[in-house]
Amino acid sequence: MQFIESSDFVGDAVNIIASALSGESNRPYRISLCGGSTPEPVYQALAEVQLDWSNIEITFGDERCVPPDHEDSNFKMASGSLLNKVSLNEMNILRMRGELDPVDAAREYEDSLRQRSETGIYTHDLILLGMGEDGHTASLFPGTSALNESDRWVVSNHVPQKEESRITFTYPIINAARKILFLIRGEDKRRIVDHVLSGESDLPVSLVDPEEGSVIWLLD
Ligand code: 6PG
Repeated sequence: MQFIESSDFVGDAVNIIASALSGESNRPYRISLCGGSTPEPVYQALAEVQLDWSNIEITFGDERCVPPDHEDSNFKMASGSLLNKVSLNEMNILRMRGELDPVDAAREYEDSLRQRSETGIYTHDLILLGMGEDGHTASLFPGTSALNESDRWVVSNHVPQKEESRITFTYPIINAARKILFLIRGEDKRRIVDHVLSGESDLPVSLVDPEEGSVIWLLD
C-alpha cells in the first residue's frame, strides 16, 4: 500500500492511470471508473493523453439508480469529461444501466463481465476508487449488505444513509484488480485516511485489499 501526498493531484493521477494502460497487451486494458466529484478533472486531463483508446475497456465501479442522462449519473459525468472525447470502441464501454431495476441491472452487468472473463474472475488492470467521509468506497457504504457479499461481483445495494439503492462492485471483483488507485481530495477526508493508516479501521474502504494487486492512495 502506497500513500502519495501530491502537489499535482491531477497530473499525478493521470500519470499513474496512463502507465497502467500502456504497453503491449494481447487483450484490451481494463479500467474501472469511479463516480463522485473528485475524478472529473482527472478524467478531463486524461482525455488529453495519447493512449491507444481502441484497446481500452471501460467499466464502472458503481452507479446510481438513474438514467444515463441524469445529473447524478456517474456515466453522464464520465462521458462528458472523458468517454465522449476519446476514440474508444463503443463495445468496450460497459455501462451499468441505472435506469433498470437495480437487481436486474446488477445481474445484467455481472453477466456482461462474465462473458468477457476467459477463466475465473474479471480482472481489471486498474480500478479507480473514491472515498466518502464515512469511509465508503464505490457504493459499499458502512452497515450495508453488499459489504458481506463474497460470491457475486456486482450487486444492488440498499443504502439507508442515502434512502436509495445503488449498483456496485463487491469486494471479490475489486480485490481481483492488478492495481487500485484511490483518488482522495479534501481535508475533511484526512481523518478517515489517518484512521485507515492506523490499521484499526474496519471501514468499507479498509477492506479493499487485493490478493495480488497493488494499492495507491493519492492524496491532495
Ligand atoms: C459515487 C462514488 C463514490 C464516491 C465517493 C467520493 O458514486 O458517488 O462511487 O464512492 O467516489 O462518494 O465522492 P466525491 O469524490 O464526490 O467526494
